[in-house]
Amino acid sequence: MQSALDPAGPEAEDVATLFYVMLVGGAAIWVGVVGTLFYATRVRREPHSERTAGWVILLCGAVGPVFILGALLTYAVWLLPNMRPWTAPGEEGGLRQIEVTGEQFWWRVRYLDASGGVLLETANEIIMPVGERVLFSLNAPDVIHSFWIPSLGGKMDVIPGRINRIALEASKAGVYRGVCAEFCGASHALMAFTVEVLEAEAFDAWLQQRLAADGSSGADGLGLFLRHGCGACHTIAGTQADGKIGPNLTALGARGSIAAGTLPNTQDNIARFIRSPGEIKPGVHMPSFAMLPEGDVETIAAYLKGLE
Ligand code: CUA
Repeated sequence: MQSALDPAGPEAEDVATLFYVMLVGGAAIWVGVVGTLFYATRVRREPHSERTAGWVILLCGAVGPVFILGALLTYAVWLLPNMRPWTAPGEEGGLRQIEVTGEQFWWRVRYLDASGGVLLETANEIIMPVGERVLFSLNAPDVIHSFWIPSLGGKMDVIPGRINRIALEASKAGVYRGVCAEFCGASHALMAFTVEVLEAEAFDAWLQQRLAADGSSGADGLGLFLRHGCGACHTIAGTQADGKIGPNLTALGARGSIAAGTLPNTQDNIARFIRSPGEIKPGVHMPSFAMLPEGDVETIAAYLKGLE
């Protein structure tokens, strides 16, 4: 689900309300101005009618719009404090922090502990608890992206060389879609992510499970994965694969989609992506592995799909 008009959190509710208020205000101005224009074309050239027309044009064409625009501006400025990244300077320390890095063309997601250390890393999926403000720290290594979860609020630019922050809260459990909202290259449109909002208990269970994740089962697949050098770019927790360039693949099998929301997560699609990533996602940094024996690609894909 991806709609700014179907809010699932307080920040998004403000945005949706603002949209409807602006819509009504804008419609009132449009009706007033176009109505005045229409009226003006039918005024007779008589002193009496011209005087009335002057008043109508002044009220509906100028005073009315100024008054409505002033009211809309006041309302929007009044809403602004709610849209700030966090309400109090000190609140940052108390919020759960998730660091999101905009890569070309996917999202690196790191859960931080209280002292800013990395608890765990995943990619293209954000799991968060319901009813808790979460602080997202956004950065990028090369080009500008924009982090946007329409159902939860935002958006916020992701800019190389600086850390932008935005705090969001989900008030309803569910699965929401996030996107990159700033043109960033050939596969800008193929840079989505999933936000899964869980009840607090389910979230804690997920966190514990992920912290204990061990990707070492499926010996054949892991062996091939390492032998073909996949581990130089990808990490799978609990194995020797500890590459940092590409997306972390720990528990990949549990994700709903692969390649940043581009393809459904099936063994066939994983194999397809390994063989020719550039065909699925133009401009991707991962090279093609079409030269690997067919059986090896299938075994690696089956191993990755089995990681949960
Ligand atoms: Cu990343 Cu557009």
